[in-house]
Amino acid sequence: MLDIKITRTTNPKAKPEGPLGFGKIFTDHMFIMNYTEGKGWHDPRIVPYQDLTLSPACMVFHYGQEMFEGLKAYKGEDGKSYLFRPDMNGKRTNNTNDRLCIPQIPVEDFVQAVQAVVKVDEDWIPTEPGTSLYIRPFIIATEPFLGVDVSETYLFMIIMSPSGAYYAEGLKPVGIWIEDDYVRAVKGGMGYAKTGGNYAASLAAQVKAHDGGYSQVLWLDGVERKYIEEVGAMNIFFKIDGKIVTPELNGSILPGITRDSVLTICRDWGLPVEERKISVDELIEAQKTGKLEEVFGSGTAAVISPVGKLRYKDDVMTIGNGEIGEISQKLYDTVTGIQLGKLEDKFGWRLEVK
Ligand code: PLP
Ligand code: COI
Repeated sequence: MLDIKITRTTNPKAKPEGPLGFGKIFTDHMFIMNYTEGKGWHDPRIVPYQDLTLSPACMVFHYGQEMFEGLKAYKGEDGKSYLFRPDMNGKRTNNTNDRLCIPQIPVEDFVQAVQAVVKVDEDWIPTEPGTSLYIRPFIIATEPFLGVDVSETYLFMIIMSPSGAYYAEGLKPVGIWIEDDYVRAVKGGMGYAKTGGNYAASLAAQVKAHDGGYSQVLWLDGVERKYIEEVGAMNIFFKIDGKIVTPELNGSILPGITRDSVLTICRDWGLPVEERKISVDELIEAQKTGKLEEVFGSGTAAVISPVGKLRYKDDVMTIGNGEIGEISQKLYDTVTGIQLGKLEDKFGWRLEVK
């Protein structure tokens, strides 16, 4: 149990008006906790949102030893505030930390810190349909040292941003670029970890995709460049001939919490679900024979995001009729319904912020 010291701002900011966009506006407070080797995590505190003062020699700036998470707080119809499966973000934090040689944080401390900072800024949770408070926990290596080594000091911070849809398209299907040159991750690398380096590695392909008129990149496996992995900020699902199919967790893709929720819900509905390898050739064939019925991404920021177009080299596959597919819409309604407290929380995923 953390003993969190709270210093409230004396200068609260005006709340935003109009469309929020994603990740551009920050709340009044943030959580910070230090780590020092020999002392462990210490000095957990909530302070007014502020700039940091750091040595330019901090190891994070040079060798990228850092991690981040993403989750959301929602205002329920009952006026209470809720988190969605924050323990899963705490567990994934420690899986990432192990890969990056960052010290673990007990899951209950992680969840307590998230709850405490959301509580302080509870009135920043937006209530317009499709909006929520995006929460960004992250850890950086702060030791000032230019040798390539494991840092002896860290900062764990949580900042928050009232946000709307991640994609400008909202629930309109997005176009996705299947990248055939660059790769994001390989087995044995950091693909399953949520660390900035994976996103830095993705930017050159993202620029290509944007230049080609597509919203995001769909990665292929880094060895054969044959099998579907995931999208830049979400996992990917296909409805092929009545079955819900998604790439298996193979070490190079992020084990998404929304992915896990979608699989659980689909199995609960009795739909046939497969976690397996899916080749890009299989998709092209399924599209040609009319069996590629729906494509959607899943993620905290992206929620359930329908895909209307997939480009691979000279092939452009159009999916559906420009509208969200039936299962995608039903999943969007169910996931957000549970998150907002409109539907029964039969899997015990919601945590009230107290
Ligand atoms: N894959 C990548 C690369 C992501 O950045 C995200 C977003 O967090 C996801 C998948 C989806 O994960 P989650 O559902 O836990 O947000
Ligand atoms: C999230 O969905 O929480 C993510 O971390 C995606 C992010 C890269 C915007």
